Amino acid sequence: MDKLVIAIDGPSGSGKSTVGKAIARRLGYLYIDSGAVYRAVGRKALDTNTSLEDATSVARLANLSSITLEGDPDHLRVFLDGRDVSGQIRLPDASHASSVVATIPEVREAVVEKLREMARAGGVVMDGRDIGTKVFPDAQVKLFLDASLDVRARRRCEEERERGRDVTADQIREELEARDRRDCERTATPLVKAPDAVFIDTSDLPLDAVVERALEIARTRSQT
Ligand code: C5P
Repeated sequence: MDKLVIAIDGPSGSGKSTVGKAIARRLGYLYIDSGAVYRAVGRKALDTNTSLEDATSVARLANLSSITLEGDPDHLRVFLDGRDVSGQIRLPDASHASSVVATIPEVREAVVEKLREMARAGGVVMDGRDIGTKVFPDAQVKLFLDASLDVRARRRCEEERERGRDVTADQIREELEARDRRDCERTATPLVKAPDAVFIDTSDLPLDAVVERALEIARTRSQT
């Protein structure tokens, strides 16, 4: 198959990363978790006591930081200025910080540039909120995944518990709602479905079925 760009967007818990990793594994593509880059910027702001509201300083951090993703889709490690921060970027404070810094237009510009550079060689699956609309508007395959808030909260809750965090479904639901609101209401590339993205509601669909559907679309696009 040609070296396609496969863009997967959608809110937290919609199944993007599970589906994205599986597609990348099946096609032997690079998997890029764009949220991890925003999380690394949020982590750095917290660790350097930079106010999340100070757009100029946070944008400077985003521009000056080295953020790299290494390893195969199932063992992805995130490095911030050479330090492995894979665990620290998943902590609740980093989840919140990433969502706040992602509203700053200059931060988004810096991250978009890094993401395009990471995907330079092609043959990539990238997931996020603006991949099909902004990062790769010409991606050959675009998916927009969504699911009900209940299903998304349940998925996130399971993931958080696997990481050892003692959370309730209500707590996760509130966090998701706040992050969804920030993603959808920000002026800089809010979370919207690209007009040419295929919409898939994953609430009642096994994620394997979504992967098969995506691969089918990729096969079709590869022949055109
Ligand atoms: O996908 P994940 O939840 O790890 O992303 C962390 C945060 O980064 C999200 O809450 C969202 O606000 C932001 N993000 C974004 N654009 C992307 C990817 C993530 O705004 N392409």
